Amino acid sequence: MEKENMKEFIRGIVSLLYKCFGHYSWVGIYLLRDNELRLGPWKGKAPTQHTVIPLGKGICGIAATTCKTEIIDEVRSDDRYLACFPETRSEIVVPIKKEGRVIGEIDIDSEKAFAFQKDDRRFLEALANFLSDILDAS
Ligand code: SME
Repeated sequence: MEKENMKEFIRGIVSLLYKCFGHYSWVGIYLLRDNELRLGPWKGKAPTQHTVIPLGKGICGIAATTCKTEIIDEVRSDDRYLACFPETRSEIVVPIKKEGRVIGEIDIDSEKAFAFQKDDRRFLEALANFLSDILDAS
């Protein structure tokens, strides 16, 4: 796929996630570049101020260093959480890995506490594997 088409394709996936899952209130893809997570395509009511997140910072930065999916059932009781939207109650961050290394992440907020269940994790981890196949790791 050509690079421009690929960007459009990923934007489409982000829009579909936002539109089709009622409990997903903000959906974004971060890409790892020069040891920082940089926000790529996103969809939600408002932009986030966290367009660049250092490794180890916030839920996103932690998931990027551990290489593991993070589910935060209640963000208000997790002091690692970097706040973006006052309405957010829960969050899932799924690393996108290539050859065992993180190249990006799917980050989704919900306005419902305890919104992310096993099914979301399974589906989003499968999606992250798919994105890993089509994303350029350079
Ligand atoms: N809450 C994230 C920051 C990104 S925003 O949710 C879009 C975190 O704690 O890393």
